[in-house]
Parts: sequence; C-alpha cells; structure tokens
Amino acid sequence: MNDLLKVRGLRVRYGATCGVADVELAVPSGAVVSLLGANGAGKSSILKGVAGLAEAEGEVIFAGRDLSRASARERVRSGIVYVPEGREIVAALTVDENLTLGGFMLDGRTRAARRSTILDLFPEISNRTRAPAWMLSGGEQQMLAIGRALMSAPRLLLLDEPSLGLAPLLIRRVFERLGQIRSETGLSILLVEQNYAMVSRFSDILYFVRSGQISGHRLASEIDVSEEGRRELLESYLGARH
Ligand SMILES: Nc1ncnc2c1ncn2[C@@H]1O[C@H](COP(=O)(O)OP(=O)(O)O)[C@@H](O)[C@H]1O
Ligand SMILES: [Mg+2]
Repeated sequence: MNDLLKVRGLRVRYGATCGVADVELAVPSGAVVSLLGANGAGKSSILKGVAGLAEAEGEVIFAGRDLSRASARERVRSGIVYVPEGREIVAALTVDENLTLGGFMLDGRTRAARRSTILDLFPEISNRTRAPAWMLSGGEQQMLAIGRALMSAPRLLLLDEPSLGLAPLLIRRVFERLGQIRSETGLSILLVEQNYAMVSRFSDILYFVRSGQISGHRLASEIDVSEEGRRELLESYLGARH
C-alpha cells in the first residue's frame, strides 16, 4: 500500500513546552491509523502538527507533496481536514450554516450535492437543518462536526476523540458511519481515541504515544484480543494500567 501521509521528525511546541518530539508515522492510503496514549501524552499535538495548526518542525509529506511549510488552509485544500476534540461546531449557527462553512471553498452546486450526501449519511441531523447547533445532542453534534469536515471531500480525516462524552450506542453509530464513508470513498483516517475496544476493531494500525514520543506501533491484526493480551500490550507501550 502507498503511504498517503508520511511524518518524520515532527516536533510540536507550545512556547517553551514540547508537545511531542521525533514523531515518525505513516498512514497508508485508505487505512485507519490510531494513536493511543494517556492524557497529555501528545496525541492531539500530533494531529495539530499534521493539520498545520501548531508551531511545528519536521516533515509532513502528503500524497507525495511536501506540506511541511504549508499553512493550515493549504493543507485543507490538499485534503487534510481536522476535527478537533470537543467538536467545536459553531453553536449559534444552524446545522445547514455549519455545513456551508465546511464547504466554503466549493461552488454552490458541488456544495449542495455534498450536503445532500452527508445528510443521507447522518439522518439524525437531516431533519434538523434549520436548528441552531447548540440544540443538538452530543451525538448529533459529533455527526455534524464530522459531516462539516466531510463537506470538503478530504482524503485524510484527523479525528480527535470523537467518542468523548457520547453514550455507547452513539459511539457505535458514529463509528458505523465512519466505516460506511470509508468503504464508499476510500477515506483515510488518523484517529485519536480512548475507547480501546472500538479502536482495535476499527483500525488497521495502532501507534502508542507516551510522554511526547511514539513508543511503538503494531498492526491491529497482530494484536491478541484477549483481556490479558490487551493489558500486556498497553503496559508494554504505555507503561500504565489501562
Ligand atoms: N495549548 C497548549 N499550551 C501549552 N501546552 C500545551 C498545549 N496543548 C498541549 N500542551 C502540552 O503538550 C503536551 C501534550 O498535550 P496533548 O497533545 O494535548 O496530549 P493528549 O492529546 O495526548 O492528551 C502536554 O504536556 C500538554 O500539557
Ligand atoms: Mg488530546
């Protein structure tokens, strides 16, 4: 498989604080790659570094192009779209207006076509298009945040903890839809997720992040899914009890 994204020597800084250093990872075309690690390990920093939303050094090669120095907007145009933790939809705007924002660079006809595809995919929000986003439930807001990101037809979705604050049934539903989009469009996903059970089923490759560095990676298919195997794996890479 070709690598859609290749990252080498990525370092993300917040003033004097280092978010992550020496990060090397790859996302093969069409794959779901997940980052696992404790709070504060550096998972969001990696996504922000790839999205161009943090002060970063290192190489970001996307679809064969060097985007290391590209602005966040150029990266969106190239097909990298970030869905931040906590959803960050615009609460005061309606569902429709949020979707329009996600497709700001499209012509009217393409935007209308994408909008209708996304509303087909997320029927939960399709009859709420005129409602302000703050009126939606947490799960519906997450669907809207993902839907908004999909408006620009990205090739790589950077998803930061999409299950945060959602009930188990909704988590399953959000992941089902992501699976559907993946099989229909070949979208690649770099995912941060705490829900290990969901991650191991949904991902092709897992990267472990510990104290601002990648401590290892494994193919999901190689991982022993027993409780014991899971504990050993997480302890060996993350050093903590999970
Ligand atoms: N905006 C920020 N300003 C200063 N330090 C930050 C900021 N965001 C993250 N950090 C620091 O960078 C490190 C990695 O954080 P983060 O990438 O958010 O971890 P994770 O997503 O794994 O919880 C932590 O030590 C955190 O305190
Ligand atoms: Mg985070």
